[in-house]
Amino acid sequence: MYEVNDKIAVVSGASRGIGEASARALDAAGARVVLTGRTVSDLERVAADLKNDPVILESDLSPPRAGTELGERILDAVGPVDILVNNAGIPMRRTPDVLTEEDFNLVFSINVRSLLMLTLALGPGMAERGGGSIINISSIASLRGPVGRVAYAGTKGAVDAMTRALAADWGSEGIRVNAICPGLIATAIWADDRNNVPGLSERMADRIALKRWGFGDDVADVVLFFASDASRYMTGEVVAVDGGLARVGAPQRLQE
Ligand SMILES: NC(=O)c1ccc[n+]([C@@H]2O[C@H](COP(=O)([O-])OP(=O)(O)OC[C@H]3O[C@@H](n4cnc5c(N)ncnc54)[C@H](OP(=O)(O)O)[C@@H]3O)[C@@H](O)[C@H]2O)c1
Repeated sequence: MYEVNDKIAVVSGASRGIGEASARALDAAGARVVLTGRTVSDLERVAADLKNDPVILESDLSPPRAGTELGERILDAVGPVDILVNNAGIPMRRTPDVLTEEDFNLVFSINVRSLLMLTLALGPGMAERGGGSIINISSIASLRGPVGRVAYAGTKGAVDAMTRALAADWGSEGIRVNAICPGLIATAIWADDRNNVPGLSERMADRIALKRWGFGDDVADVVLFFASDASRYMTGEVVAVDGGLARVGAPQRLQE
């Protein structure tokens, strides 16, 4: 579809879901991929199928300095990179009455702090190489108000704002920064609900204009678009990949 031949790409959270699909798509399009995450066995499972000499770096992005330290390890392992997919993230389902400061700190540490610190660690090397593409995986939780996810929605709103701000800071360096807002993507974070709540999967699909859940590949193809030169005149954009869930009314029969 698009090519990223001879590029070096980093995908955080590449052990499953959207990150796994993105790593596979970037490798298939020619990039050498650095896969990061906590679960080495899953990273090895993904890397075993990749053809362009993939690199695995185990990393927990929740502690302070984790993003900076991962960036330093990436530079040691492969040198400056061309593409960064900031995908690692956790959901945080907590209604306002039970949300704690610990919950808030955890979700912001992974979804926001480490995302930014990893980006700051890799940006200068990208600039030295003449530019690059940063793709932040946000969420439609930043575009519409989800129930029971105020902290999570806050992290993704921060991701969208940082996407635009860094696009401004680094545009003159040839670094493009864009964000993708997935809608309902059938990954591990939805597995319990999809398997255990009767009818939920169908009810949620019915609210989507395209009438189906998304899959990792649906997002990964847009990651590849932003990674490639096909998107060379786009930066600071926040794009929903959601089958129309955030902005389009789901078609419904008006009468029998
Ligand atoms: N699925 C959806 O419907 C949906 C919708 C909107 C946005 N998103 C966003 O898309 C991204 C990927 O979600 P997904 O659905 O693919 O989720 P997933 O299947 O749970 O994958 C999450 C990835 O992040 C990694 N990760 C989690 N905690 C981490 C930590 N403390 N340190 C380092 N890595 C960590 C996981 O690897 P390890 O567990 O091996 O560390 C895994 O590779 C997230 O940012 C999420 O917010 C998803």
